[in-house]
Amino acid sequence: MLLTMSTTVLSGIRATGRLHLGNYLGAVKGMLALQQEEAISTFFMVADVHTITTPYNIDELRINRREVIIDYLAAGLDPERSTLFLQSMVGEHLELAFLFSSVMSIARMQHLPTFKDKVKQYPEHATMALLNYPLLMAADILLYKANLVPVGIDQEPHIEITRQVARKMNEVYGTQLPEPQRFATKGEYVPSLQGIGKMSKSVEGSYISLTDTKTEILDRLKQAPTDSGVGRLTAMSQGVKNLLQLVELFSGAEKRKEYESQYEDTGIRYGALKAELATAIFAELKPLQERRQQFIAKPKLVDEVIEAGVTKARAVARETLDEVKEKMGLG
Ligand code: TYM
Repeated sequence: MLLTMSTTVLSGIRATGRLHLGNYLGAVKGMLALQQEEAISTFFMVADVHTITTPYNIDELRINRREVIIDYLAAGLDPERSTLFLQSMVGEHLELAFLFSSVMSIARMQHLPTFKDKVKQYPEHATMALLNYPLLMAADILLYKANLVPVGIDQEPHIEITRQVARKMNEVYGTQLPEPQRFATKGEYVPSLQGIGKMSKSVEGSYISLTDTKTEILDRLKQAPTDSGVGRLTAMSQGVKNLLQLVELFSGAEKRKEYESQYEDTGIRYGALKAELATAIFAELKPLQERRQQFIAKPKLVDEVIEAGVTKARAVARETLDEVKEKMGLG
C-alpha cells in the first residue's frame, strides 16, 4: 500500500496480561514500522474496554492496562511520534460503537468466526459485550479515520466488519468514513508452540512472553513437540513446521533452509535447534526487557505519556463523533 500524507494508522492490544511473541510479531512490529514513516499519523491504544468482553479479574485489569503502555514504550513506540492512550479514557469509542450498531444486523455479528470461537471457549459468557466486540473495534479505527491497521491475520474478520460499517454509514447517513486495510507483517500468524493453532495467551504452553528469561524461553521450547529426528522418512509434522517458522522469523530464511537440508539429510537434532532458537529469541527480547525496567522505574513519565495521549486522541475522536452525530440527526 502506498503511504501518503493522508494515511492514518490505529491499532490496539487487549490488556489480558504479558504480551507474547504473537502480539509482538503480528502487531507491534507493524506499529514500529509504520511509526517510522514521517508522513503518517499513528494512534496506538490499549483496548482495555475490549478486555471486559471475556471473563477477567478487575485488579489484574487495573495493572495490565498500564503494563501494555509500558510494553509499547519498551518495544520502541515513541510518544513523540505516536499517540499512546487507553481506550476507556476516551468515552467517544463507546458512543460511536453504539451508533454503529444501528447499521449492523444481529445475524451478521453472530456468524463471525471470532464470536463463535469465544462462545465455545466461554459458553457461560455469551454476552452482548462480546457480540458488540467488532463494533467497538470499528469505532476505535473509524474515530481516527484510520485507513491502515497493523494487526495479525486473526483480526481480518474484524477489519472486514469495519469496512462494512464504514460503507453502510456512508450509504445510509452520508458520512465519509474510510474503508481500512490490514497492514501485514512477516509474523502475521505466529503458530502455537504446541503444534496446533496459533500462539495465544489463553492457551497455556502455546506462547513465549516478551518478559521471559532465556531459561524460560528454552524451557517452553523444550515442551514443543517435534518428531523422532529422522523426519525425512515421513511427512514433516506440524510441530516441526512451527519451529522452522520461528527459526525463519528470528534467524532468517537462510537458517531455515539449513535446517530443512538437515531434515532431508541426517535429520535435525532438535535439542540443538531449540537451544539456538532460544538464543535468537532472547537476543531480540533483551533490549526490550532492559528498556521495560527503565520505564517501570519512571511511573510519572508513564502517567504523562498516557495523559498526553488521551488528550490528543480525545480531540480527534470528538471531531469525528460530532460529524457522525450531525449526519444522523443527533447533532
Ligand atoms: P489481541 O489483544 O487479541 O491481540 C493483539 C494483537 O496481536 C495479534 N496476535 C497475533 N499475531 C500473530 N500471531 C499470533 N499468534 C497472534 N496472536 C495475537 C493480534 O492479531 C492483534 O493484532 N481485537 C484486537 C484488539 C483491538 C484492536 C482494535 C486492534 C481492539 N480494537 C482496533 C486494532 C484496531 C485483539 O484481539 O487484540
